[in-house]
Amino acid sequence: MCGIIGYVGLGKASQIITDGLKRLEYRGYDSVGIAVLKNKKFELRKDKGMVGEVSSQLEFTTMDGNIGIGHTRWATHGVVCTENAHPHFDCNKTVVLAHNGVIENFLQLKKGLNGHKFSSETDSEVVAHIFEENLKLLSPEEAFLTTISSLGGSYAIAALSTNDPEERLFIARRNSPLIIGVGKGEMFCASDIPAMLPYTRSFIHLEEGDRAILSKSGYTIYDPEGKKINREIITVDWNFDVAQKGGYSHFMLKEIHDQEHFIGQTLHSETDKAKVMIDKFEKIHILAAGTSYHSALLFSYLLSEKGKIAQAFVASDYQFIGKPDEKTLVIAISQSGETADVLQALRYASKSKKIAITNTIGSTITRISDETILLNAGPEVGVAATKTFTSQMAIIYKIIYGKVKLSALQKLIATMLECEESVRKIAPLLAKKSNVFFIARGKNVPIAYEASLKFKEITYISSEAYPGGELKHGTLSLITEGVPVIVLAPNDQTLSKLAGNIQEAKARGAMILSITDDPETAKISYQSIQIPKCDPLLYPFALIIPLQLLAYHVSIERGINPDRPRNLAKSVTVE
Ligand code: M6R
Repeated sequence: MCGIIGYVGLGKASQIITDGLKRLEYRGYDSVGIAVLKNKKFELRKDKGMVGEVSSQLEFTTMDGNIGIGHTRWATHGVVCTENAHPHFDCNKTVVLAHNGVIENFLQLKKGLNGHKFSSETDSEVVAHIFEENLKLLSPEEAFLTTISSLGGSYAIAALSTNDPEERLFIARRNSPLIIGVGKGEMFCASDIPAMLPYTRSFIHLEEGDRAILSKSGYTIYDPEGKKINREIITVDWNFDVAQKGGYSHFMLKEIHDQEHFIGQTLHSETDKAKVMIDKFEKIHILAAGTSYHSALLFSYLLSEKGKIAQAFVASDYQFIGKPDEKTLVIAISQSGETADVLQALRYASKSKKIAITNTIGSTITRISDETILLNAGPEVGVAATKTFTSQMAIIYKIIYGKVKLSALQKLIATMLECEESVRKIAPLLAKKSNVFFIARGKNVPIAYEASLKFKEITYISSEAYPGGELKHGTLSLITEGVPVIVLAPNDQTLSKLAGNIQEAKARGAMILSITDDPETAKISYQSIQIPKCDPLLYPFALIIPLQLLAYHVSIERGINPDRPRNLAKSVTVE
């Protein structure tokens, strides 16, 4: 949550930072700001609102200078207003700073800052004042390192000081992502790689507690004890185009369509070592949040079928109910590899062997796991996870059934994408409803959960998903005339029981919308999306594509920007 970017070099800092902020906006979009240093003076512009509108209203790119920082905010401490937007100054404008995370000891730190004048309600501003205080006695390097040592909680920080004759960028991270971009005669830092992709393919993922100082000619990294340290430079082969909309109106739509192409890449991912580990363990815990939790649930069902004692956990609750030991294999699934709840749960499983399934090379999850499987789905920018969900499923299927079973997957996804026109026709109908229900049975239930999450996340219509058999245990009281019930009804062993659930709902006036390859089910539905002839093993993939498209088109119908759903951010780096 929150996106940070910093630049030092010979280029126009305000231009590079503004472009980067646009690519980081998925991390938070309630306010935005930029600060540039020139001739020992800061210029700072910030306001509430989205990057595009604020940056053009405040003419960010007219600011001159070759070093600067920018921030796009997802509020934690303090309401959304100009004062609380980052970057923040100290009292005398000798320091400017942007922060992502939560400084847990900020009240205590604030008490020690007698005489300092605060301009915001944020926890972050306190860091600028401590840096200011330390600069009175110490060199800029020492002052920064000392400042960071006093902080509790989580942070990714980028700061500048007019006291630094060398005009360098001071950065630090703990439990919030921050990546260094290594350029030629220029250096970058950002919360995520896509922000820096137009300028470099060489990156350093800072380790927990690392601090670094960047100048146009290079960088120095310090470990948490303040010792200079080398960290590996990784090269990514992501094409810049994958982080662009490429002619689509939204990233989400592009990423839904991308699934056809990226699935092939995912199927090439290395899974053998992880599979050997999985085979060795009888007891397996799978941890994840949100969409990734739905993959975890599906994984647990498939592993249980293979005779494993497998359980999926919502990562944020694992510490209360999970009892991992050295006999438990822990698998964490996270697109970003930076979700705080997932990292925290993984650390809780300290005695267990761990596997990470992630889309993000070098992310924190990969560094606290024994083995990593990369999704290779390319960067996902839309807040609503789409292609990374199908990639996670593809990895899970490859582990359980082997790659050969997935040879027809790409073609199936391509065919399901062709149903977009039919989905578009259904969308206006659903856009007027206030409640929507999704039902499925067996292995298709996690897909119903995912469809429902996608739907509520970007349409703001209340939606719930159930195993069909559960309707009669309470939810039927909500099914009245015209209430949409979306039925995931492939012609597998779940269909006969699901048919009964459809009748129960229909008898109460439900408007049945089905995704099915069964002509009878299609006939009794108000509207139906056709699944083509396919291997029944692949039904979950066939089901999710039209449901992602449905959420997208209902969102558009309701005038919502599906790439920027309210109150949400792509990468949730606070617990
Ligand atoms: O990066 P992660 O997979 O760990 O993210 C977990 C959730 O925050 C994420 O899946 C969220 O639920 C999606 N935005 C939903 O579309």
